[in-house]
Amino acid sequence: MNEIITIDGPAGSGKSTISRALAKKINFLYLDTGAMYRAVGLAAKRMGIRPDHGKRLGELVKSMDLYFKTDEDPPKLFLAKEDISLTIRSPEMDMLASKVSAVREVREGMSHLQRKMARGLKVVAEGRDMGTVVFPDAEHKFFLTALPEVRVERRYRERLRRGESVHKEIVESELKKRDRNDQTRSLAPLKPAEDAKLIDSTQLTPEQVIEEIMGHLK
Ligand code: DC
Repeated sequence: MNEIITIDGPAGSGKSTISRALAKKINFLYLDTGAMYRAVGLAAKRMGIRPDHGKRLGELVKSMDLYFKTDEDPPKLFLAKEDISLTIRSPEMDMLASKVSAVREVREGMSHLQRKMARGLKVVAEGRDMGTVVFPDAEHKFFLTALPEVRVERRYRERLRRGESVHKEIVESELKKRDRNDQTRSLAPLKPAEDAKLIDSTQLTPEQVIEEIMGHLK
């Protein structure tokens, strides 16, 4: 039986950590839809397609052979036969993903693929529009938030851990810009579904957030 749990929220709200750990705990498939938009950004860059060129992006999305290998933890994302899991995690891909994700043809193609990937399965779907657009009938919906300074701090530490030398001010301005793009675009903007439960993770550990979610699932 199909069973969907959606987890939406802005960058740095803890979505990925929580969604992945939750999926593992309850033995659901973890669907990282942000990674899919990142893959579109990467493919567009390689093909020299402008991130706002709807027609060409639409054709690109239709031709992409994109799939997750879910027998690994975390799942790996493949474009054709290439493992792009790490390549899509750069600051450049943060912004490119945000740009291409505002394009109608891209959203249509990705939403279709996301529903197809989830068909007949039990899934934790993470993104920006999982509860509002892609899985409006999901059994359980959550929207994670955290104060902006905490989200910046999390992203900053994540990038330092990856070995980047970056200033916190840069991380802050990039995160704000991406929040603005994602919240103000006309298609599927980042916002909580009306029936989503809001969880503010500012003062919570990932374990506490998962506990709260599990409490709602019972
Ligand atoms: O979650 P993330 O940071 O990996 O997502 C990258 C970008 O992709 C994000 O800035 C907006 C876009 N995105 C989207 O528009 N819809 C989704 N369901 C997931 C991500």
